[in-house]
Amino acid sequence: MKEKIVIANWKMKLGQKESLDLAKQMKDKFKDLKNGQVVICPSFLSIPEVKKIFKGSKIKLGAQNVCSNENGANTGEISPTMLTEAGCEYVIVGHSERRNYMLENYEMIHLKLKAVLNTDKLMPIVCIGENFEERKTDRRDFVLVHQLQQSLGGLSLLQNQRIIIAYEPIWAIGSGTAIEPAEAEYAHKIIKLTLNDLFGPQIASDHFSIVYGGSITSKNVKGFVNLENTDGLLVGGASLNADEFFKVVKAVIK
Ligand code: PGA
Repeated sequence: MKEKIVIANWKMKLGQKESLDLAKQMKDKFKDLKNGQVVICPSFLSIPEVKKIFKGSKIKLGAQNVCSNENGANTGEISPTMLTEAGCEYVIVGHSERRNYMLENYEMIHLKLKAVLNTDKLMPIVCIGENFEERKTDRRDFVLVHQLQQSLGGLSLLQNQRIIIAYEPIWAIGSGTAIEPAEAEYAHKIIKLTLNDLFGPQIASDHFSIVYGGSITSKNVKGFVNLENTDGLLVGGASLNADEFFKVVKAVIK
């Protein structure tokens, strides 16, 4: 059994003070956390202060994006090592909002992933998922396989390297309505089979976790708890309130 993980993505929704207030509430809520992993991804600017607040707590820190270069003339970017220096252990790579609004593609995502793995200290959370048009026209399976091939193809993983794949159907993100758990289970099966093809079943099972993301709340989380091939959740809106996020985590991590 893999350790369950719940990742909070605060996006660009909280200012510095709001981030620190919420971080304090989270630290208090999760003071008895023993099993599982809870990861919080604040904005870049809040990371160092939130890190100070989480000192002595089991909550881990993640970032929402990273540069594919380690050093150099990359104005406005943050390198993988800078993230580890600031205390991050996880980083989201290729979130659909970056694919949509910042025109990130899977070639870029592949390069970011390689740079992150090179640090040996950051675990990448690679986002994939179809848009509504692709779903409506029955192309979801193809899209998922293609996105996995583009982002992961040609990688060989060292013994200690792990990757989290976040299945986030774009049309469910921020919509207020998650997909049916059975649909998530089906998509995760496709992901699992593709990872088997790309890396072989042993590496697919030992080095990869699969999480679902898209409008998870304390009301619908139960349906996603015992799904096959599902190791946890990536939570946006519901992670902006400590009580609500605590309920979501408690449903997943006993
Ligand atoms: P949501 O966001 O939970 O608000 O739908 C999830 C995400 O974008 O990762």
